[in-house]
Amino acid sequence: MGQRYSDEWHRIHLRNPRDVVKESNMPAYPWLQRNSMEGANVQDRMRALRRLGVPYTDEQIEKAPEQLKGKTEEDAIVAYLQGLGVAGREAAAKSVSEGALQ
Ligand code: HEM
Repeated sequence: MGQRYSDEWHRIHLRNPRDVVKESNMPAYPWLQRNSMEGANVQDRMRALRRLGVPYTDEQIEKAPEQLKGKTEEDAIVAYLQGLGVAGREAAAKSVSEGALQ
């Protein structure tokens, strides 16, 4: 899914899927653009995910609350969708360029 559509496409689709896919039965999520991500105890969540294997660095965890300033749930879900599959592709490309798969 990552990078298949523009951020704008995702925003329109989340606010009202029928605006981009006429026959869509997906529910609309119009409130995401109004809900703030600030105060979402992001550092605790990142530490929990790191325990499960997500390679967040201390620096990323430290900077996260600052980066969430002014961001909405819609911003967060669009960023999530744009990242799907992409991190894996980058990691795979790196492995190949470093000869790990040969
Ligand atoms: C927060 C929850 C959801 C997110 C983030 C989300 C996200 C997306 C995205 C990114 C696509 C595009 C897929 C593609 O083109 O390959 C999509 C399509 C679709 N989604 Fe969702 N979806 C959500 C919830 C739902 C729910 C609850 C339903 C059904 C009950 C649903 C039904 C569909 C359908 C049928 C499509 C095909 C395209 C369309 O008809 O709009 N989605 N969704």
